[in-house]
Amino acid sequence: MPEADLFELAERYRPEFPIFRSAIYLNSCSLGALSQRSRAALERFADLWDRSGAAAWYQDWLDAARDVRLAFARLISAGEQETALAASISAALASIVSAIDFDTRPRVVTTELDFPTVVYHFLARRRLGVEPVVLKSPDGVSVPIEAFDAAIDERTALVATSHVYYTTGAIQDIGAVARRAHAKGALCLVDAYQSTGQLPVDARDLGVDFLLSGALKWLLGGQGLAFMYVRHELCQRLTPTTVGWFGAEDQFAFDAGVLRLRGDARRFELGTPAVPTLYTARAGLELVHEVGVERIRRRVASLTEDLWRRARSAGLRVRGASEPEARSAIVMIEHTDPGAAVRRLAEAGVIADYRPGAVRLSPHFYNTTEDNARAIDVLVGGG
Ligand SMILES: Cc1ncc(COP(=O)(O)O)c(C=O)c1O
Repeated sequence: MPEADLFELAERYRPEFPIFRSAIYLNSCSLGALSQRSRAALERFADLWDRSGAAAWYQDWLDAARDVRLAFARLISAGEQETALAASISAALASIVSAIDFDTRPRVVTTELDFPTVVYHFLARRRLGVEPVVLKSPDGVSVPIEAFDAAIDERTALVATSHVYYTTGAIQDIGAVARRAHAKGALCLVDAYQSTGQLPVDARDLGVDFLLSGALKWLLGGQGLAFMYVRHELCQRLTPTTVGWFGAEDQFAFDAGVLRLRGDARRFELGTPAVPTLYTARAGLELVHEVGVERIRRRVASLTEDLWRRARSAGLRVRGASEPEARSAIVMIEHTDPGAAVRRLAEAGVIADYRPGAVRLSPHFYNTTEDNARAIDVLVGGG
């Protein structure tokens, strides 16, 4: 698709996002912008609640859960039976990790660039004999595959790491990591929160055993809902000990005396989902599918390169992957006082974020090169 068409894409969809009436929004890796569709969906949720009360479960709420699971399955080319819902990535991890036997394989390999919640689950299990290995990043951008090679051994139960590092936006070759894990008999879990919705993701192609994501960032769905993919063959083999009634085979039998878990990925589900978010997430996923992830990737890749170029020519340093193909739309611009810089951006009407030592800008398909230009202009003091 030519560049001009990709530009029209932003023009066409921007009116869906009222935030742009009053601001330039460049923080989708924290929270995707609220679309009119998601807002309308929220209204429909409230109307149904008003009209039907709990009967709404059977009118649309259970269907909404199914629609969202299906839309997520389609997004990552997985089967419906391989996907499940959770309240957060942290909750999904609690249930998945509870199913893994660390007795003969106590080692878990993660990295210092992964989101802390991923690593915390294993640090917390140290007293149960789990041996977490937190790989260092030599350049602060990514972790070389050789470091995984050296760390994964026959005592490793799991390799848990990111597809896109939230810290640097670098895209990790997760297929290569999964192959290394499997070669030593370990499982591989990928935190794909920062990749799904901005990059094409095919869970089976990547060869991972578990993939986690959530609605609120690139999938434009709001807070309170995460997604799990569990490779089909593992759904029967792994039995969680952190469980809930949504994971029970016959959920509505209400038999507290018998626990029989479902045979699919939903055995990892816990309790009642955030129904308002099912509505906003269903609309968000619909929008992402409508635009198309391939197109989104092309658009955000071009916005990312534009940001890098503008930042560098303004004399700023960008922290990220040296190869453009390994860059995602999380652009870290080094700064001595990023908090103050983000406040100055906000005063100038640009919503951004920061992490230690860097301002973080993350354009989605609704952004334009003018947004980038404005942000860089303010950052160098011209705003
Ligand atoms: C890459 C990544 N993983 C996990 C999380 C946390 O997920 P949750 O709050 O759903 O546990 C975040 C939150 O920003 C994140 O960026």
